[in-house]
Amino acid sequence: MIAELLQPGMSGADLCDTGQALALHPGEDIHVARAAEKRRRDFALGRTCARAALASLGHGEAAIAIGEDGAPVWPQDILGSITHTSLYAAAVASEARRFAGLGIDAERVGGVTPKLWPRLFNAAEQAQLSGRADADVAATLLFSAKEAAFKAMRLRGALAFRDIAIDLGEGGFTAEHVGKRLSGRFAVAGNLVLTLAWL
Ligand SMILES: CC(C)(COP(=O)(O)OP(=O)(O)OC[C@H]1O[C@@H](n2cnc3c(N)ncnc32)[C@H](O)[C@@H]1OP(=O)(O)O)[C@@H](O)C(=O)NCCC(=O)NCCS
Repeated sequence: MIAELLQPGMSGADLCDTGQALALHPGEDIHVARAAEKRRRDFALGRTCARAALASLGHGEAAIAIGEDGAPVWPQDILGSITHTSLYAAAVASEARRFAGLGIDAERVGGVTPKLWPRLFNAAEQAQLSGRADADVAATLLFSAKEAAFKAMRLRGALAFRDIAIDLGEGGFTAEHVGKRLSGRFAVAGNLVLTLAWL
């Protein structure tokens, strides 16, 4: 699914969780040694994707630690992003000189109910949603695009979801946050939504 979204200079990988055996790098295991089984599994799925993405950039052996803010710590001169949702994970990476930021996010359709819209979406976004037969998919896309943009911009701390404005187009979107603009692509397969943002 991720292959549809990648831009020149990006390397990506994704995985459906079929219960396959996954090996964590010893330098990563320490981060989830005491975690619950689901967290260990999600972490391993994400790290496996990240390592596959890094392999094409010559860094397939690198351990990817968790930084202070929760973001992955990439090898020097590399940037990237990891996501996982129910039974699916994906990662993207590139040489740092190619992009100022990368963010990826996967979500399952269903959680972004109309009750949440006023808290998550600005007036223009809510107008995009109202009356659409596929409003549940579009709402999930908007939410996911905000999460991908949050990661790509390396924003820190709590932030109102409405502060990142998303404009959805055909297969792509733009995101804006205090004058900064990002580009994005998205894909939908069944109830799975995947968004990728870059600047
Ligand atoms: C951190 C956050 C972006 C993660 O997104 P999510 O949809 O919950 O979960 P995902 O599976 O897509 O992403 C998780 C991965 O994101 C990465 N991540 C965590 N914190 C991050 C950060 N601050 N910046 C970038 N990436 C981060 C990690 O790789 C993590 O996986 P790992 O712990 O296994 O390494 C989100 O939970 C969050 O806190 N957002 C900020 C809250 C907010 O204000 N959002 C508004 C956005 S408009």
